[in-house]
Amino acid sequence: MKKRILSALLAAAMILGGALALTACGGDSNKLIMATNASFPPYEYKDGENFAGIDIEIAGKIAEKLGKTLEIKDVEFGSIIGGVQTGKFDMGMAGMTVTEERLQSVNFTSSYATGIQSVIVADKSSYKSIDDFFNLDKDGNWVSVKDGVKIGVQQDTTGDIYASDTVENWGFGENNVIRYKTGNEAVLALTSGKITAVIIDNEPAKSYVASTAGLRILDGAYTEEQYAICIAKENTALLEQVNKALEELIADGTVKAIIDKYIPAN
Ligand code: ARG
Repeated sequence: MKKRILSALLAAAMILGGALALTACGGDSNKLIMATNASFPPYEYKDGENFAGIDIEIAGKIAEKLGKTLEIKDVEFGSIIGGVQTGKFDMGMAGMTVTEERLQSVNFTSSYATGIQSVIVADKSSYKSIDDFFNLDKDGNWVSVKDGVKIGVQQDTTGDIYASDTVENWGFGENNVIRYKTGNEAVLALTSGKITAVIIDNEPAKSYVASTAGLRILDGAYTEEQYAICIAKENTALLEQVNKALEELIADGTVKAIIDKYIPAN
């Protein structure tokens, strides 16, 4: 009798343990829950009711390889990493740049694309290069931001991080940066003349300029970055699976075909 109670308890503990392990891995193992911020064409955007874009398609292929159903959550960019850390999402895929700081919080897969920070200005403005936003010393070094220059960024993105840094560190200083929830909102503020420029990744920049009248991109790249998928530090099993799937998709040309479909000149 005692033995039976013990084994029943043991079984219950095992079920509980299993359930706990499952939650730690992000819940339902038949689903692959991807957090993104779908205001970042051509990587992720809404096409009517549907999600579309490079990340959405690559994630679909990864889910297929893992035998899981892809579920997409459209959230604020700044809440992706936190949600991945707590297991609310299995992974974050949002044209997300690998940075030292983010690596403190999450792991990243191999990189599947690169980005460059671009500067969008009003077509009718006289700005020719980033230097034109600054007062320069006699050697052409940035001394301070010109009066009235306001830079719009998407909150918590690398564009925000770089732009908000001090002039000595190639930024514009906190006070000259205005943060928006989406890249789209930043672009709207630019078209209505509220800000001087928007700093955002090059492909979304091209996309916004193509779909919005009166904008252009300044020559000269601000900085280069690598995009990857983020996964919770403790979820090494999923990291391995996703990485394996992603690397196969890169090796067999699937990733390139998807990118070329959305970025034809690539
Ligand atoms: N690459 C930039 C970053 O990682 C911007 C990404 C924004 N992505 C998005 N889906 N809104 O910070």
